[in-house]
Amino acid sequence: MKVLVTGGCGFIGSNVVDAYVEKGYDVVIVDNLSTGKKENKNPKAKLYVCDICKEELEDIFEKERPDIVNHHAAQISVPLSVEDPLYDAEVNIKGIIRLLLLSVKYKVNKFIFASTGGAIYGEADVVPTGEDYIPEPASPYAISKLSGEKYISFFYNQYGLDYTVLRYSNVYGPRQIPHGEAGVVAIFTEKLIAGIHPTLNHFPDAPQGMIRDYCYVNDIARANIIATENKKRGIFNIGTGKGTTTIVLYKEIVKILRKKGVFIPDDFDEPQRALARPGDIKVSTLNVQKAKLELGWEAAYDISKGLSETVDWYLNR
Ligand SMILES: NC(=O)c1ccc[n+]([C@@H]2O[C@H](COP(=O)([O-])OP(=O)(O)OC[C@H]3O[C@@H](n4cnc5c(N)ncnc54)[C@H](O)[C@@H]3O)[C@@H](O)[C@H]2O)c1
Repeated sequence: MKVLVTGGCGFIGSNVVDAYVEKGYDVVIVDNLSTGKKENKNPKAKLYVCDICKEELEDIFEKERPDIVNHHAAQISVPLSVEDPLYDAEVNIKGIIRLLLLSVKYKVNKFIFASTGGAIYGEADVVPTGEDYIPEPASPYAISKLSGEKYISFFYNQYGLDYTVLRYSNVYGPRQIPHGEAGVVAIFTEKLIAGIHPTLNHFPDAPQGMIRDYCYVNDIARANIIATENKKRGIFNIGTGKGTTTIVLYKEIVKILRKKGVFIPDDFDEPQRALARPGDIKVSTLNVQKAKLELGWEAAYDISKGLSETVDWYLNR
């Protein structure tokens, strides 16, 4: 079975590629290496350095004829989407439309899409938030991801293209870069290792920071394998269902680093502070019962175990 993974040299995409390769899939990656890195590429996967917005994408479909398309390539920064919504839409809306058109033309069996439960619901008044909650996207990034979902639904209704949408919570783990949707783990860890005092962004009335549902990338990769092999179509939240404040996350990373022998000065016990950025949401946690019941998926990592493995990766890099 051949799977084409867009964004397969990025943080999550490369972990998904590793999981596919381990399962014996034939993997083709399309990545323009804008934020992804060649060193993330699984040696058994074939890489086409190509932009999903370019017409050359069709040559790859024609040559490779994938059975499955797994779409992870995206403009991933919420602040950048606020600064430049046109660029965000170019990649995240026009890019997915191009992929869907090619998937229909080249008779792809299933389309899997990395969407965002962390951003799409906005400041929801029901938390943990379920898939049936009407999204209130609070940033151009969240709007473009929701548009992607709507196009997928249209392509299913119009052409019968089968799909699974995975709405991830805040993903963390090895290979994460600091600029993405849930870059805070990467930012804190990289800074603390480099001896730089990190800054915690918060709303004026919530000094403990934002509340997020942090999900380890191995669990995310496993959800992609299940979505590929399971016949269930639809939209699924993928997260832990549990909320962690930024200050608790920060202190846990400091604790783990010290336990592993990294010197962290006493005045780093508390982070520096700054105000929340445009597009930030106060609370985001996902109700993941649907994935558990219908896909048989649930997160296996708790935050301590996931952070410990993540810190090991940053220290051994
Ligand atoms: N990190 C999270 O917590 C999170 C949460 C929800 C959803 N997601 C989604 O998961 C996916 C992967 O995110 P990530 O955190 O691994 O980010 P990432 O930046 O590490 O990965 C994105 C990859 O896509 C590639 N890419 C970007 N624009 C491209 C283009 N126009 N053409 C071809 N390749 C392009 C990049 O080079 C990179 O390899 C994204 O779709 C993102 O929206 C991430």
